[in-house]
Amino acid sequence: MKKIGVLTSGADAPGMNAHIRSIVRTASARGVQVIGIRRGFSGLIESDFFPLERKDTANIIGLGGTILRTSQSEEFMLADFRAKAADNLKAAGIEGIIGCGGEGTMKGLHALHRDHNVKVIGTPGTIDNDMYGTDFTIGFDTAINTAAEAIDRIRDTADSQGRVYIIEVMGSEAGFVATMVGIACGAEYMAIPETLTNIPDLYKRITREGKHKRYIVVIGEGDEVGGAVDLAALLKECYNIDSRVAVLGHIQRGGKPTVADRVLGSRLGQGAVETLLGGASNVMVGEVHGQLQFTSLPQTYERKKALQDHLIRLAELLA
Ligand code: F6P
Repeated sequence: MKKIGVLTSGADAPGMNAHIRSIVRTASARGVQVIGIRRGFSGLIESDFFPLERKDTANIIGLGGTILRTSQSEEFMLADFRAKAADNLKAAGIEGIIGCGGEGTMKGLHALHRDHNVKVIGTPGTIDNDMYGTDFTIGFDTAINTAAEAIDRIRDTADSQGRVYIIEVMGSEAGFVATMVGIACGAEYMAIPETLTNIPDLYKRITREGKHKRYIVVIGEGDEVGGAVDLAALLKECYNIDSRVAVLGHIQRGGKPTVADRVLGSRLGQGAVETLLGGASNVMVGEVHGQLQFTSLPQTYERKKALQDHLIRLAELLA
């Protein structure tokens, strides 16, 4: 291969720039040209391509977001638009692509491979860490550190005023973010999609702490009771408990990537290029127990990565 493309798709995640840098530098060391594809699959449909040189990746390793920008392309779900994308790649002489993102990205890459035999490699980039085939996704470490810092600040005021705080973190349908952050911040209770949130039990725990004691609940956005606002309303309605709500939202997705995310992004970038140049296709390159792991793209979204039981137990023990 002499020319490969790279795109980031779906939600951005900190560490994607380190990943892009690694892809460009690994390819350049092998004499392969990299073409940047802007705005994910939308740029593929619109031929929004540009040569990405080694010098273009100077000073991006510490930047959040993605210099390639990103999008959630509904058009790409339609066969005609995928055909256009495949034609565009052919016309530009791009022989294979690497796409970094979450589940939707892996689905899109797989469809391109299945329908048009385009060589595709996926890499896991999402703050949610909810992808099968990798221990950690690019962006997760930064997001949990950002959320932990925010919760530490809230704890100061919660301690001072002796209030109940309900803090909502991202994570989609999985509780990886909520559990890690809850453990790291010493939260008294974690409401996560993987376990049932029992409101009477939560009430008992809060009242056990006594009036005027600080009580921090971290809730994952995918919890079955709804978000922090819903949980606060339930506590008020059922038990007349007053609480304050903080929804951390998109601050968890922005900002400087941590060292762990920069290194993971770099390692998976190298792995993805070498896998693509080695002739493989339709796989996601992840990292499991410190080793590169190759998982067929459909498996990454058909199988579910379970939140480790020992983390749930630890969270309950220490709460
Ligand atoms: O998948 C990453 C994520 O940040 C989720 O945690 C969150 O549910 C979602 O994206 C938010 O998406 P949007 O930025 O489109 O509101």
